[in-house]
Amino acid sequence: MNQMRIVILGASGMVGGYALRYMLDHPTIERVTAIGRKKRGVSHPKLDEVLHQDFSDCSTLARVISGHDACVFCLGTYTGTVRDAELRTITVDYTIEFARVLHGSSPDAAFAFLSGAGADQTGRSRMAFARFKGEAEKALIAAGFRSVYIFRPAYIYPVEPRKEPNFSYRLFRMIYPVFRTLFPNQVIQADDLARAMVDVTIRKRGERGNLVFENSDIRAMVESPRPSESGAHPVVSSRLDGEKK
Ligand SMILES: NC(=O)c1ccc[n+]([C@@H]2O[C@H](COP(=O)([O-])OP(=O)(O)OC[C@H]3O[C@@H](n4cnc5c(N)ncnc54)[C@H](OP(=O)(O)O)[C@@H]3O)[C@@H](O)[C@H]2O)c1
Repeated sequence: MNQMRIVILGASGMVGGYALRYMLDHPTIERVTAIGRKKRGVSHPKLDEVLHQDFSDCSTLARVISGHDACVFCLGTYTGTVRDAELRTITVDYTIEFARVLHGSSPDAAFAFLSGAGADQTGRSRMAFARFKGEAEKALIAAGFRSVYIFRPAYIYPVEPRKEPNFSYRLFRMIYPVFRTLFPNQVIQADDLARAMVDVTIRKRGERGNLVFENSDIRAMVESPRPSESGAHPVVSSRLDGEKK
């Protein structure tokens, strides 16, 4: 299989961090361009880190994101950490603006988008998060990409301890062992989700069409890897050079 070049957003975060590590270790991926507000302070021969502060204007990124085969978009934030207006700006406007520039620079790229369970493309949901994720999904589908892969995880289990965004996530983390047993289709591990996002862009390379993966679909994907067909590859648990715990 030809080597791929992938651009990632949100690599300084939880899901994006796992996706980045997995991509750097994956033999099919030759180049990773990670775009974010701060450098991760890691070095790897496949990695280009590009600093960008204001995602309301991504025009200056046009050159560095040209010639890529796919984008893994994990940039996002949580309800309650910012006001609703800013949540919408980050969730909808930043996604659309980056997609605009990516499509202009890499017209044949596929787009894997980290959305969330309950995302509502009709705009009728009473939950702002669901409306905004749905709005971003709809805009991506209309943007003209060869393929858009939408991932709608339910509760993402952090795997490694982190500063939780709000009280409900602290609570979920505590009750996770019981919750997982009672509602297995309402949880997904962060590293498994990241692997699924990357694997889809590799397996579906060259195909056209949009796909939505609900939490149960993502679980099915990670629970039944078919390495011979898919090129699935174990998630890297080791840290990168210079990466801080
Ligand atoms: N946890 C769950 O159960 C769950 C479930 C469904 C969906 N989700 C969604 O999954 C997504 C990612 O989750 P996560 O836990 O990986 O998030 P995270 O650890 O908080 O990482 C978020 C990433 O987005 C970037 N980002 C946030 N605000 C930004 C801004 N204003 N400008 C530029 N970059 C910005 C962060 O960059 P910096 O490092 O520069 O801040 C970081 O790279 C979120 O959209 C979340 O809503 C989560």
